[in-house]
Amino acid sequence: MFVYTTHREIHSFLKDKKGSVGLVPTMGALHQGHASLVEKATLENEWVIVSIFINPTQFNNQEDLAEYPKTLTKDQQKLAPLKEKLLLYVPEYTDLYPEKLASKSYRFDGLEKHMEGAYRPGHFDGVATVVQSLFEKLSPNRAYFGEKDFQQLQIIKALVVQLDLKIEVVSCPIIREDDGLAMSSRNALLSPKERKAASEIYKALQVIQSNQTAWDASKMSHYFKTKVEEKSEMTVDYFFIANTTDLIPVQSLERGISYRIFVAVYTRKTRLIDTVELGIM
Ligand code: PAJ
Repeated sequence: MFVYTTHREIHSFLKDKKGSVGLVPTMGALHQGHASLVEKATLENEWVIVSIFINPTQFNNQEDLAEYPKTLTKDQQKLAPLKEKLLLYVPEYTDLYPEKLASKSYRFDGLEKHMEGAYRPGHFDGVATVVQSLFEKLSPNRAYFGEKDFQQLQIIKALVVQLDLKIEVVSCPIIREDDGLAMSSRNALLSPKERKAASEIYKALQVIQSNQTAWDASKMSHYFKTKVEEKSEMTVDYFFIANTTDLIPVQSLERGISYRIFVAVYTRKTRLIDTVELGIM
């Protein structure tokens, strides 16, 4: 499958083509979660660009960046059946960062403040910088993002409004393994014992969901920490319940408001995140 390494090559391929262009930004190590975005993009657009770029500026931890899985040949094979309408874009960093490899600084009305924003300083500046560059260089009509990274998704929607871009941001539901673990490129880094333990994360979240009318926020948090840390392989980095619109964590829940639970869990080396709806109670 042909790999485009510069946005100019993509432009010259698309310049005399008709129809809409969908963009699926990824960091590779593709799994079914990514595939669901690509499938949706393929159904909704004439042309689909899948970008694979491990963006250094969004990693606040150099070890995490060094260990991030890299499986380009396998990724290419997975995308090959769609090659008639798919453009695979795997740039050098200079194509996305022509001046210097550094983040810009953004404000998104507080959406960037809590959860991943607080626990991974600089992360969303790095994400917004690379996504802005992808948007400006590739000019897609639609761009596809997963609810797995719900805070990222909301920030990208805000970015499009802030930059006044004519891009529709399409959100896609979380795809899970059979035992409920949210699919993630990082799951490949788990040892077999850690992988087994990791299924507790979603199980605990489901129990909380089903008790959402009976339990208060502190009981939910306590339950999650206890259940997850019962497994010696895991420690909870955070558990937050936040309003779905402003993503500000709350201590108590009010009826008629839509919330989500956001969690981050550490195994020995790998950090996993997940999120579920708490619905309108
Ligand atoms: P990456 O982690 O590779 O994810 C690429 C896209 O796939 C994101 O929109 C993410 O939310 C989505 N995704 C990942 N796992 C998913 C799952 N289990 N179900 C549904 N969607 C899932 O997110 C990034 O890369 C980067 O931050 C990026 C946006 C590419 C910027 O560098």
